[in-house]
Amino acid sequence: MAFDTILTNGLIVTASDILPSGTEIGITAGVITALGLALPHGPSTKILDARGAYITPGGIDSHVHLAQKNSPTGDGWESGTRSAAAGGTTTVIAFASQERGDESLVPVVEEYLKLADGQSYVDYGVHCIVTNPTAKILDSEFAWLFEQGVTSVKLYMTYEHMRVPDRGVLEILFKCRELGMTTMIHAESHDMISFIIEGLERKGNTEPYFHALARPRIAEDEASYRAISLAELADAPILIVHMSSEVAVNHVREAQGRLLPVHAETCPHYLFLLSEEIKGKEHDHFSGAKHVCSPPLRHRMEDLEGLWRGVANGTFTTWSSDHAPSKYDHPGGKKLGLVDGIPRFSKIPNGLPGVETRMALLFGQTEACLPASEAKLSLSRFVQLTASNAAKLYGLSGRKGSIAPGFDADLVVWYPGVEGKRVIEQGKMHHDMDYTPFEGVEVGNWPRWTMLRGEIVWSDDEGGVVGKKGIGEFLKRGRGEVVMGRTGNVPRGMLGDEREYWR
Ligand SMILES: *[C@@H]1O[C@H](CO)[C@@H](O)[C@H](O)[C@H]1NC(C)=O
Ligand SMILES: [Zn+2]
Repeated sequence: MAFDTILTNGLIVTASDILPSGTEIGITAGVITALGLALPHGPSTKILDARGAYITPGGIDSHVHLAQKNSPTGDGWESGTRSAAAGGTTTVIAFASQERGDESLVPVVEEYLKLADGQSYVDYGVHCIVTNPTAKILDSEFAWLFEQGVTSVKLYMTYEHMRVPDRGVLEILFKCRELGMTTMIHAESHDMISFIIEGLERKGNTEPYFHALARPRIAEDEASYRAISLAELADAPILIVHMSSEVAVNHVREAQGRLLPVHAETCPHYLFLLSEEIKGKEHDHFSGAKHVCSPPLRHRMEDLEGLWRGVANGTFTTWSSDHAPSKYDHPGGKKLGLVDGIPRFSKIPNGLPGVETRMALLFGQTEACLPASEAKLSLSRFVQLTASNAAKLYGLSGRKGSIAPGFDADLVVWYPGVEGKRVIEQGKMHHDMDYTPFEGVEVGNWPRWTMLRGEIVWSDDEGGVVGKKGIGEFLKRGRGEVVMGRTGNVPRGMLGDEREYWR
């Protein structure tokens, strides 16, 4: 049978190799069916010429907030996934979110999936945010989640309305360990932060910039160590989301050294931007609200450099956007932080848009765009961080995240050489937002084509987003794999069978 499409003249990058030049990709019915030299083509085979450019797996952005009730001015499924496709991302994993009063997760997930139905430009999966792990939810609904293909949950150790106390974190971790689910944790010390916020407000220090002082590194450091300890007790795989500082990442590295299944995620804003941004413009300090996210952007270049080390040396498992958009110039968005004209940083919705810029920002730091001595990471590491690791960790292996026969033909074809150089500007974005936090940042390349299951959905030089709304399919995910370490460890200091006396 002839291929529908053959992608030729590209340099194919996988999580371990750059394949010999001349290797072509044969695609049949949306799936990669062959890799080889001079693949045979039939009369109806479409030949796509990558012109000596790199081809990487379509991006998997495993941390994207879309259409959540607590962010009414941000992107919905349509605009958020359009933006994803334009930036080289072919799979997003977004969040169905339990509110504290929701007694069941079933309607939470079902209603969330309805919002996505027919709206998405890319394939999508769903995690579930759990804010109130009642006995009923743990005993029966976590198993239900797993059956739906929602095989990961996220919990917050901070935010008054979302945080789960340590006891609840443990309950969730033990349940997830039993079912084979992955737990994502937002690790910041709630009590340190609320104590500092009270003091800042008492002293009238309420401009956006004080957000960065309200959530210091030590709050992330302490909570990350605590999250790892709780996970160690439960022998449960975790991923600490959006890590922003090296002190906290050091705990992850130490745990990985002991083979604990502890994974870490970081996001572009923590590697490209400093807290300086939150000061805003000289005559408009409130504009700093555009850069309010949690954890906050950190103060020093050394913070960025430490994180780049973790990107290069394998400590981080995923590079996600944490796309969490709230419009700036909107009374229900960032301007919620202007109360009667007075800035109140603690009322500013947290989060930045970034699903579209995630891939190019990292690709621009690889050896594809920089001399080897300046490159921050290898191309294979780029593939691991932007696609293949997330596929494994979140139960999409064998289908997403790699360029190999049997995998979906989800691909990014970059520009050869310097042709793809771009400056990031709000006017070029495809999100439904009124700013990008990366305005003016130059990237060494941009996706020329994004292909989703063999279809071009984004063509930079031939029409922009050309995929159809609704082409994206729901991904029923399987059991996640442990990417770092392994399960089956005995917590430090315990006897081998100690847990059996209480579990
Ligand atoms: C790798 O980078 C991380 C993050 O900066 C750091 O914690 C770790 O010590 C580094 N080195 C090694 C060998 O892991
Ligand atoms: Zn998030």
